[in-house]
Amino acid sequence: MYLAGVDGQVPAFPVTPDGLEAAAGAVLPPEAFAYVAGSAGTELTARANRAVFERWQIVPRLLRAVAQRDLTTEVCRTLLSAPILLAPIGAIGIVHPDAELAVVRAAASVGLPIILSTVASTPMEEVANELATHGGSAWYQLYWPRQREVTVSLVTRAEKAGYQAIVVTLDTWALAWRPRDLGHGFLPFLRGMGIANYLTDPAFCAGLARPPEADMQAAVLHWAAMFGNPELTWADIAWLGTQTSLPILVKGVCHPDDARAAIDAGVSGIVVSNHGGRQIDGARPALDCLPEVSAVAEPAGVAVLFDSGIRTGSDIIKAIALGAQAVLVGRPYVYGLAIGGEEGVRHVLRCLLAELDLTMALSGHAYPGSITRDILDPYTA
Ligand code: FNR
Repeated sequence: MYLAGVDGQVPAFPVTPDGLEAAAGAVLPPEAFAYVAGSAGTELTARANRAVFERWQIVPRLLRAVAQRDLTTEVCRTLLSAPILLAPIGAIGIVHPDAELAVVRAAASVGLPIILSTVASTPMEEVANELATHGGSAWYQLYWPRQREVTVSLVTRAEKAGYQAIVVTLDTWALAWRPRDLGHGFLPFLRGMGIANYLTDPAFCAGLARPPEADMQAAVLHWAAMFGNPELTWADIAWLGTQTSLPILVKGVCHPDDARAAIDAGVSGIVVSNHGGRQIDGARPALDCLPEVSAVAEPAGVAVLFDSGIRTGSDIIKAIALGAQAVLVGRPYVYGLAIGGEEGVRHVLRCLLAELDLTMALSGHAYPGSITRDILDPYTA
């Protein structure tokens, strides 16, 4: 797949997760790096999300004829070249001017879908055009606004533009206590960054006295009042299913009872996630929640995806073994974007794909479906 650093060929970008983060930290303005790298509170959960992977050990199997490997995976009617999607990350225009367009080109070139954030830096139709040009695919992530007309409008636009699923993020109806951002006095949205999908939305703009270009301050205030909806219940998820023919996934589920409620509401998929530790400091590491959610979802035929802490190929194997069909990679590709635009994102994805392929093969697995719970041992020392 990807021979990064073969003899005499030094890769243009770092090949370790920590190296990527450090390189991004060296090139980004401090407040932009803090926005991406930072988490809620003391960042205890962000650290726990990583540490928990050390508690599982892969037990390799040998001589299993793994020369021919096939990493392709189908999730909610979307075909992936490997069990990886690019997590929705808002406001990435703060790390690179090409923002989502660079991410789309890189992801499409390796056959992985992106999940476009509601708070993207580029309007969803523009991203869809780029996807069409490069043969990529995407899902749309919904932050459910306070006004139902705006919700319907965003989802209808996404379906019309060709997005293949709606991922409703449930854990972020308000932004958490994030000391790094507070310390910098920085929130991109309040500076008009990351609200492109709203500014191009007829239902959103109907609530403005003057168009955004005539009064950006009023548009930003309208956005702030619109962004999160604390009134939602599971009945609203069922209702959303009547508004779109696309599969609906919910993101942020950590409790098996919430998984049951989501399934009763008719979802096609569940993303186990704690938002990379950005919402509740002290929340349980997401990987610990995965087996319990999977035990509920799998018998119901509902897809399970996972994020929060995925950095390496072996992390992906562990997540699959614990019940995920695919994972979302988050911060690492944003670091790639920061240090190298499209090339940087492609580098990060190719490294991840290569490491996943190699580690699977060396562990005795030719395809993701052969990775089962019994390939892991808990670390007990
Ligand atoms: C996010 N995440 C996120 N999730 C979402 O549903 N919509 C969004 O707009 C964003 N925005 C966002 C911005 C930044 C800077 C980060 C780091 C994360 C959460 C994201 O989809 C995913 O859950 C986490 O990134 C997973 O954690 P790790 O693996 O990146 O640490």
